[in-house]
Amino acid sequence: MTLDLQSIGPIAFLGAGRMGGALIEGWMRAGVLDPKSLIIVDPHPSQAIAALGARLNPPSIILGEARTLLLAVKPQIWRAAAAEIAPHLAPDAVIVSIAAGVPITDIAAAFGGRRTARVMPTTAVAIGKGVASIYAPDEEAHARAHALFKPVASVVDLSQESQMHAATAVSGSAPAYLYAFIEALEAAGTRQGLSEKASRRLARATIAGASALLELSGEEPAELRRQVTSPGGTTQAALEVLMSKDGLGALMDRAVAAAVNRSKDLAG
Ligand SMILES: NC(=O)c1ccc[n+]([C@@H]2O[C@H](COP(=O)([O-])OP(=O)(O)OC[C@H]3O[C@@H](n4cnc5c(N)ncnc54)[C@H](OP(=O)(O)O)[C@@H]3O)[C@@H](O)[C@H]2O)c1
Repeated sequence: MTLDLQSIGPIAFLGAGRMGGALIEGWMRAGVLDPKSLIIVDPHPSQAIAALGARLNPPSIILGEARTLLLAVKPQIWRAAAAEIAPHLAPDAVIVSIAAGVPITDIAAAFGGRRTARVMPTTAVAIGKGVASIYAPDEEAHARAHALFKPVASVVDLSQESQMHAATAVSGSAPAYLYAFIEALEAAGTRQGLSEKASRRLARATIAGASALLELSGEEPAELRRQVTSPGGTTQAALEVLMSKDGLGALMDRAVAAAVNRSKDLAG
């Protein structure tokens, strides 16, 4: 089943903060959203959200018009937020949750057994370059989650809910790994004698260019790596450190395992 954004509205947002706001921004950039079809519930909306022209914190009767509800509040408060809104939703409204670590059965139960999907997105949806891992045992909920994220993200289906932990570790949390890598590269550059300004510009522009090349060329990362590594050269000398037994591979295994464990802890 394939659906598009227009066919699943009105769409209600329960929470429109960093992630909900990023999704709306991405839709606006992509030109796929009529803000009038949005219903937003958020006690402190940003100026951009308030200026959208959506129905913002409307009377509860309006919530009954929503066909798809995006649950986008912090995991710590999702139960209270859901309890307030669930009685006002139409019986056939479909729930799409992005709340990290909250199991689908808990969400469905809190929303009176309504059909539910779980998604782990990244904030790059704001610029149409997000990633969204989707798990939904129900076909309609699965199609709605696709319709929400496809205009702004690369969508990956998970066959089991337990894979959400690994997807969170490899995608949801991973932009921070890359930013940490860039910080470390910049710091290493200054320790080798570059000015902070030069090291910053060199590291950032190089990583951005390499990421764009990976995306546009369609080549495997290992092939791109080989293309820029001459035998006995400078790159090879650095890679012998990075790709040693205790190098990046082992470090990434530990980092991803730590994120997976934390995700399992949070899920309870
Ligand atoms: N940010 C990410 O990179 C990311 C990635 C993947 C998944 N997620 C998931 O996305 C969800 C939202 O995260 P976020 O980073 O967007 O958090 P956020 O910036 O705090 O956004 C949540 C929004 O919900 C509002 N809110 C609080 N109580 C509410 C209520 N009872 N009803 C309606 N809205 C309410 C908050 O307002 P106040 O600020 O006034 O409390 C805030 O504007 C989380 O469950 C998180 O796990 C986030």
